[in-house]
Amino acid sequence: MILIIDFGSQYNQLIARRVREHHIYCQIEPPRIGLAGIEALSPEGIILSGGPASIYAKNSPRVDPGIFDLGIPILGICYGMQYMVDALGGEVKQAEKREYGLVELHIKKATGVFSEIEKKTECWMSHGDTIARVPRGFRITASTSNTRVAAAENAAKKFYGLQFHPEVVHTPKGKRMLRNFLLGICGCSKTWTMKAFIKESVQDIRSYVGYKKVILGLSGGVDSSVTAILLHKAIGKQLTCIFVDNGLLREGEAEQVKGLFRKHFEVNLKFVSARKQFLRELKSVSDPEKKRKIIGRIFIEAFEKEADKLQGVEFLAQGTLYPDIIESRSAFGGPSAVIKSHHNVGGLPKKMKLKLIEPLKHLFKDEVRVLGKELGLPENLVWRQPFPGPGLAIRIIGDVTEARLSILRKVDVILLEEIRTMGLYKNLWQSFAVLLPLKSVGIMGDQRTYEHIVAIRAVTSTDAMTADWAKLPHSLLGRISNRIINEVRGVNRVVYDISSKPPSTIEWE
Ligand code: XMP
Repeated sequence: MILIIDFGSQYNQLIARRVREHHIYCQIEPPRIGLAGIEALSPEGIILSGGPASIYAKNSPRVDPGIFDLGIPILGICYGMQYMVDALGGEVKQAEKREYGLVELHIKKATGVFSEIEKKTECWMSHGDTIARVPRGFRITASTSNTRVAAAENAAKKFYGLQFHPEVVHTPKGKRMLRNFLLGICGCSKTWTMKAFIKESVQDIRSYVGYKKVILGLSGGVDSSVTAILLHKAIGKQLTCIFVDNGLLREGEAEQVKGLFRKHFEVNLKFVSARKQFLRELKSVSDPEKKRKIIGRIFIEAFEKEADKLQGVEFLAQGTLYPDIIESRSAFGGPSAVIKSHHNVGGLPKKMKLKLIEPLKHLFKDEVRVLGKELGLPENLVWRQPFPGPGLAIRIIGDVTEARLSILRKVDVILLEEIRTMGLYKNLWQSFAVLLPLKSVGIMGDQRTYEHIVAIRAVTSTDAMTADWAKLPHSLLGRISNRIINEVRGVNRVVYDISSKPPSTIEWE
């Protein structure tokens, strides 16, 4: 395994992705992991990430310098390189000229991380500090016009430093450099595959759970579905999934979940039909936060009620992914403002005194998809776009009623059909419709109409933190609009949302 020490760079997860693309397992840990923690992981190589701090700033993040005595190859990237230089007796100072963006890199000798890379290539720089003097035993291996020490190495000790970012696509040979480090220098072998992951996880889950019972809140989304099937493979009927039908799902979704999990996979599934209760409590509520709170509360109540009926449950399984774990303990992560209260089962274990089990907590989303496929989940589920816990309730602006839900469901079917037909579904982070509490005048045949407006939202994104409105072809938008107005009674106008996040959010509520 490769250990990545997190100095707070925005590219950290990218480094991890790049390592895993080579089928090598890696973990991101904060600097406070300490020497004992590092030795316990026995990594074959360590990558010191970049970060926003200056090495001279008070409280700049530092890892135990004992790592340089472990005999493990180390690659420092940007701040990570500066930390290494500083810790080993070199000198870092503020650069006269900050260097940012794409720069030509001159490699002095194509060995080590630069093995088999031509001497002139490009790299992505983003730094304000620069290295004035390398530590004893190091030599400069690459420069740019502004940065004399763009790369340095102590080949005998297998320490390498890159002032630029090899992990971003803008450094065209970055992938090769990382490969050189991982395979050539650290001598890692490509053993990290989803097949191997399944085998290992199944064993781990079995020994952790023993003969005890586990419950899981199944939503029908990718993460909880994959968690369910992985657990089912490990402990079979010791797992009970609870699916709460809140009546706020899309057309046919609840039935699909039932069919797939109960019939196909033969998972123990408790199907709780709480549609009426959700709608009753949402009656005349139009404030988005109130809607979210109500939905969250009833979900937890329904879940707990069902869980109470089961005897001897000791574990609660959740489909937490790696990015959530990394973000919650980042070197610089502080509490962020609550923009929307998210509805998930995070509050459950504390209240229910259950032990948590999170088998996907070291995986990225795309790995979860590969895992799902490997476990036999159907393609359309594995590639499902994210769907919010509060469901269609936050896509109906204003009151949520059965009539409005029915309109929105029909609109949604058409929209997704057209997006899929164009082969765009997988390229979009999300594509959905929002029903507005506004009516507008239209004309159909010779008749005046006065009906609902529907907004279409389609965005591209990699992590939902930022998102761009999708530049869908006009012909597609035209077809979607025509079909919705012709086929869905109650809608006579379709608009397209052209706002990005930030400043807008993806969902409207
Ligand atoms: P926003 O609207 O905040 O959404 O830009 C970011 C992403 O999160 C999804 N989302 C939710 N997911 N429970 C969830 O499980 C929620 O309450 C919730 N609210 C928003 C949203 O669909 C988008 O992908």
